[in-house]
Amino acid sequence: MFRSLRLSLRFIVPLTAALLGLALLVMPLVDSLMLRWFVRDMEIRGELVANSVQQLIATPLANGDLAAVDDQLERVLDDERLYALALCSPDGRIVVRTATYPQSFGCGVPEPGRRGLRGLIERNGGALHLAAQALQTDGDEIGRLMIVHDMSFVERRSNETRLGLIMFFVLAGLVVAAISALVAHLSLRGWVAGVRSLLRGERAPASAPSPELQPLVGDLREMLRDLETERRLHDEATMSWTPQTLRRLLREQLSGDEVIVVSNREPYIHIDEPDGGIRVQRPASGLVTAVEPVMRACSGTWIAHGSGSADRRAADPQGRLAVPPDSPAYTLRRVWLTGEEERGYYYGFSNEGLWPLCHLAHVRPVFRSRDWKHYREINRRFADAVVQEASTEDPVVLVHDYHFALLPRLVRKRLPKATIIMFWHIPWPNPESFGVCPWKEEILDGLLGSDILGFHTPFHCKNFAETVDRFVESRIEPESSTIVVRGRRTRVEAYPISIAWPAPTEPEAIAHTRTALRERYGLPATHRIALGVDRLDYTKGIVERMRAVERLLELHPRWIGRFTLVQIAAPSRSALDEYRRFEAQVSAAAAEINERFEGRGPAPIRLLIEHHDSASVFDHYRACDVCVVTSLHDGMNLVAKEFVSSRDDERGVLILSQFTGAARELPEALIVNPYHIDQVAESMNAALMMSEAEQQARMRSMRQLVREFNVFRWAGRMLLDAGRLRRRVRLRERIGARSDGIREPLA
Ligand code: F6P
Repeated sequence: MFRSLRLSLRFIVPLTAALLGLALLVMPLVDSLMLRWFVRDMEIRGELVANSVQQLIATPLANGDLAAVDDQLERVLDDERLYALALCSPDGRIVVRTATYPQSFGCGVPEPGRRGLRGLIERNGGALHLAAQALQTDGDEIGRLMIVHDMSFVERRSNETRLGLIMFFVLAGLVVAAISALVAHLSLRGWVAGVRSLLRGERAPASAPSPELQPLVGDLREMLRDLETERRLHDEATMSWTPQTLRRLLREQLSGDEVIVVSNREPYIHIDEPDGGIRVQRPASGLVTAVEPVMRACSGTWIAHGSGSADRRAADPQGRLAVPPDSPAYTLRRVWLTGEEERGYYYGFSNEGLWPLCHLAHVRPVFRSRDWKHYREINRRFADAVVQEASTEDPVVLVHDYHFALLPRLVRKRLPKATIIMFWHIPWPNPESFGVCPWKEEILDGLLGSDILGFHTPFHCKNFAETVDRFVESRIEPESSTIVVRGRRTRVEAYPISIAWPAPTEPEAIAHTRTALRERYGLPATHRIALGVDRLDYTKGIVERMRAVERLLELHPRWIGRFTLVQIAAPSRSALDEYRRFEAQVSAAAAEINERFEGRGPAPIRLLIEHHDSASVFDHYRACDVCVVTSLHDGMNLVAKEFVSSRDDERGVLILSQFTGAARELPEALIVNPYHIDQVAESMNAALMMSEAEQQARMRSMRQLVREFNVFRWAGRMLLDAGRLRRRVRLRERIGARSDGIREPLA
């Protein structure tokens, strides 16, 4: 109310003042016009007066009775506007004059003065007008009548007119300003409403922006996006990302809401020992490496497949146990699968179908209807587990990876108010490649049940959006990274995964670790070591890496007997033919190369097909000279980041495949095409020859990046986005703005 009043006043006051100024400018013009009209009036009047005077004085004048003439003149003066009269002789002498006629006026008419009017005489008491009219009898001039009119009434009239004029202009000003203010106000309200609806992203026809707002739509949205991005970056950049930051963020941004994580692989596997005891194993899994520290920080529940032989023994009847075993921080809820279900859902559809479908490693995907049946069934079972574990109606559910493409939609149906974040840990292929999947529509629909869908790189987000565009009736809004299907929005965003920083293990002195590792493998103290750490998977480029070692020794024989590739290869998915074949291929390649250089010092390849715990892997990272990551295709590859984090001595060289997500973040590594064996071999040589100063410069820069963009930041960014989304949804529910279940975009 006050705001509108202020607004209107701001408009009315200047307009009224402008009109008043105009009135003051016009006033002198009106004055002069009026004066001219009245003078002209007086002249006409003078003729009439002269006619009547002539009749009245003709006889006395002829008789020479000047007293009677005088008497007649005084009588005529009764007219209120007549001020004085005088009778002059034809030769210009005053013969008779009324008492008011100034002697000084004489018998002549004054020439035009200041105001340009003939006969006008300005004096203190008001203006007079003097006119001369000839008096004639029978064609002879008998004298001249001098007529003085009192013009002070003109002044009075003029004042009245001036006042009226000012009043008119002020009133007109007020009326015009009021009408304009009203019109402007109404348009402004409409405009503001239009802008608001734009900013809210409303698209209902009733609130659609008016045509004149259309050009602003893009600009406004872009501005908002920039602001939002800046704010996010500012928020993120100013925080130092630690487990404590994540805990605080959960408390503040998500008001301590419940967090449920779902993945296939569990963070702790309990394994039967021959002596009846139980051994706990940490699986070789990028997912576990990243998510476990986050769960330690956030608490909550992690639902996963109980795959260890002693898992049931270690959990309660509901499959729950507190982990980590040495200092419990969250709940692990195990879901049990039969062997047949695991074959269909995990080995079959997930790893013979989706895995090769999403990785460009030239292994054909295999799709079987019975695997798909199990996949659907197990996704349902995990959805049941989410509902069982949820103690509120709106938990934050973080679903991980390609094993659970259907889960977001299934959970959405059961817990409509949940905030569902789906993170896809592997690459997303282009639409042509994905199009071969017989159940592509179901998979896309399942994923689009989430509120936020994360990939490692913008490139995978783009591939996903193009795939949806190709196969699903949808609206893609690239400017807000949003896909809308049947009125429901999913934000598709890149969240590059990372590792905990600082590394949780307390490091030994590097020199000691280097010596210990060389002793362990029976190598001389000065022996140069390159390290590979991978699951034994055909996507990792392990054979190509070994061929590059062979080529290195061909091209630069000085390394023969002075260099070894230590390849840690954790057995993986060995129930599958493809993986068993691959293991045989890797073993054969290593044996062949070692045989070729036999007798010329330590073997160039040390292949270790066995599980290594994280402490042992950490020691290897710190003891080697070069870490080699030659994946043929990899969503991110955390080995690269773990190696960087372990090297607090700022030494060591990373060779990194251009086909990993990590290559986009770590350009200071020696970036290679793993299919180009000579190039990889030359990079190995360059790494071995690299000066300490260059190693330090490269490593320092990479460490800076991994430190800043650690896994707490990865999880924090998703949770910040989820928190913002939840606040918006809650606000909307409170104000009842929308009850159709449509969620607004995040930014
Ligand atoms: O790196 C991709 C990934 O799918 C992880 O998400 C997963 O944990 C890892 O591969 C290991 O695979 P698996 O759990 O089948 O051994």
